[in-house]
Amino acid sequence: MANNTVVIALTGKGGVGKTSLCAAIVRLLTAKKPDSKILAIDADPAVGLLVSLGAKAPHTLDQIRKSVAEDVTGKLRDTQDILAEAKFKLMDAMEEQNGFCFLAIGRPEAAGCYCAINAYLKKVIEMVVDDFDYVVIDGEAGIEQINRRVLEKVTHLICVSDQSKKGLGIIGTIKEVADELVMYDDIGLIINRAPLPDKITESEIGGVKIVSVIPPDDSMTENDIEGKNIFELPENAGILKGTEEALKKLNIL
Ligand SMILES: Nc1ncnc2c1ncn2[C@@H]1O[C@H](COP(=O)(O)OP(=O)(O)OP(=O)(O)O)[C@@H](O)[C@H]1O
Ligand SMILES: [Mg+2]
Repeated sequence: MANNTVVIALTGKGGVGKTSLCAAIVRLLTAKKPDSKILAIDADPAVGLLVSLGAKAPHTLDQIRKSVAEDVTGKLRDTQDILAEAKFKLMDAMEEQNGFCFLAIGRPEAAGCYCAINAYLKKVIEMVVDDFDYVVIDGEAGIEQINRRVLEKVTHLICVSDQSKKGLGIIGTIKEVADELVMYDDIGLIINRAPLPDKITESEIGGVKIVSVIPPDDSMTENDIEGKNIFELPENAGILKGTEEALKKLNIL
C-alpha cells in the first residue's frame, strides 16, 4: 500500500455486535479524526450497517458491478478499463455524509453464490484504499471472507465475541486462518455484551489480546427499540467508551 491507510475489519460469529461496533468505530473516527477521509463498507449482504449509521446508499457495489458490465457495447473490455470505470462510479456513489463515505456490497440478484461479489469487493478495497485514511469494514458472520482473502489488505483485524466458552473457543481458529490470509499489523478481541465482565481474567484468548470488554449497554438496547442510529447514542454510552478503549489499545486512536 502506498500510504498508511488504516483498514479495520470486524469479524466474528453471527449476532455478537460486529455491525454495532463497526458503527461505533465510524462515529469515534468522525469525532476524533475530523480532517481525515473515512470510508465505511458494509460487506455483509444482509445490510445492517446502513441503518446503524443512519446512512444513505445511492448505489450498492453489486449495482455498480452490473451497470459497468452492462455498458459493454460488444467487444470484451480490458479488466483495467472496467475497473477504472468502476472506480469512477464508486467515487460518485460514495458521497460524503456526516463526515464519512459509505459503500454497501449489496445483495446479488442471482441466487446462490456470493463468490463473485466477494472477489469484486476485494478488488474494490485494493482500489479505493489509497483514497482514504480509514476504511472500516463490517464483515459477514463467519470466516468465509477471510478464507476468500477479501480481507487480505486489512491492517487491523478486530474479532468480536460474546462471553460464552463456545464463542471464545473459536477465536484461536479465526486467528490461525487470519495469520495465513490477512496481512494485518495488529489483531485484537472485543468481548461484547459480556454479562459478567469480572469473570474475564485472561489478557488474551486463542492468542488474541483482549482490547476491550463491553458489558450490555442499556442505551444501545433503548436505541434498538426506538430504531435510532449510533450517532443518536449519548456520548458516554458504554459501547462507545468500550470501543474507544479498543481503538486506543490498537493504536488507532
Ligand atoms: N454492548 C451491547 N449492549 C446492548 N446491545 C448490544 C450491544 N452490542 C450489540 N447490541 C445489540 O445486539 C444486536 C446484534 O448486534 P449486531 O447487529 O451489531 O451484531 P452482528 O454481529 O453485526 O450480527 P450479524 O452477524 O447478524 O450481522 C443488535 O440489536 C445490537 O443493537
Ligand atoms: Mg451485522
